[in-house]
Amino acid sequence: MASNKKLLMLPGDGIGPEVMGEVRRVVDWMDKRRAVSFDVEERLVGGAAIDAEGGPVSDSTMEKALAADAVLLGAVGGPKWDEVPFELKPERGLLRLRKDLELFANLRPALCFDALVEASTLKPEVVSGLDIVIVRELTGGVYFGEPRGIETLPDGTRRGINTQVYTTPEIHRVARVAFELARKRNNRVCSVEKCNVMESGVLWREEVTKLHADEFADVELSHMLADNCAMQLVRAPKQFDVIVTDNLFGDMLSDAAAMATGSLGMLPSASLGATDATGRIPALYEPVHGSAPDIAGQGKANPLATLLSFAMMLRYSFDLGDDADLIEQAVQDVLAAGNRTGDIAAPGAAPGAATVSTEQMGGALLAALDRRAA
Ligand code: IPM
Ligand code: MG
Repeated sequence: MASNKKLLMLPGDGIGPEVMGEVRRVVDWMDKRRAVSFDVEERLVGGAAIDAEGGPVSDSTMEKALAADAVLLGAVGGPKWDEVPFELKPERGLLRLRKDLELFANLRPALCFDALVEASTLKPEVVSGLDIVIVRELTGGVYFGEPRGIETLPDGTRRGINTQVYTTPEIHRVARVAFELARKRNNRVCSVEKCNVMESGVLWREEVTKLHADEFADVELSHMLADNCAMQLVRAPKQFDVIVTDNLFGDMLSDAAAMATGSLGMLPSASLGATDATGRIPALYEPVHGSAPDIAGQGKANPLATLLSFAMMLRYSFDLGDDADLIEQAVQDVLAAGNRTGDIAAPGAAPGAATVSTEQMGGALLAALDRRAA
């Protein structure tokens, strides 16, 4: 029996619309070839919404997002909106979506595909076989804490303020996601903060330790300071299984982890909320990369991170593990066959070494899906 899933697509800015176009083709493919169909709606977000609707995400788009079974976002932002007031910046649209959908757990897998070992700037033996997940807290901490703002002091100089703040429930709910995920993987969690200088870090460590003792004693737990974690991620990333950390450190560390995989252009993410009374989990999926304005509109962007985000959606929102596997295997196939967008060409590759366009990469993926599903 075919069932229709309500999917809201928010292509956004820069390369967002290009990479989202390739997901559209896979959605069409699935409608025809698999036992699942999607009702796809598309809305504006970020700079595109500022230009057309006067703000980075409209109330009606928010309503659509709240009613959807899952949201897929491309990317937001770009130099065009540099002069827009802070509260209206493209990024605020994304932050509002995360906040209003209460997507407190951001899963960022960093997986090094065999075919891409050479694309990483790190040594092959350091990254080959890498498979870790960073669980980033997404709706609290310094990105949302109050007080915040810029104020002018009596002497005429100015002061900028942001507040790092976490409560016990905020720490427990994201740590719980990390422990449960670890149980399905290699059963190890590393909790990351700066308890040597921040009270919020002291609390974070104490509360993770308590939750672990009370509910997850079977999972191996370690703690690490965030600066050391940054170093360890480039020194020996395979020592980790699941990393759980706050909003700010998770933002930094997931970019660092991305390079171990060869390219930001390969990294998907899932942002999940709490299960509601009907068993539904609010969810937004997006590539970790940004809008890449320098290559936007040129057909150079790598669509694989967004396609892999769509695969995560199939797995986490729709319990379609087989379909997610199929897409992930097809990604392996296209890489093994040598398809490379510019971002995953081996460093030092000859200038002009053959690369494929966004659309060619998407086409190769569809062909691989056809072969796999034959
Ligand atoms: C990310 C991005 C966002 C963030 C920006 C675009 C608001 O860097 O998803 O990592 O800081 O969370
Ligand atoms: Mg970031």
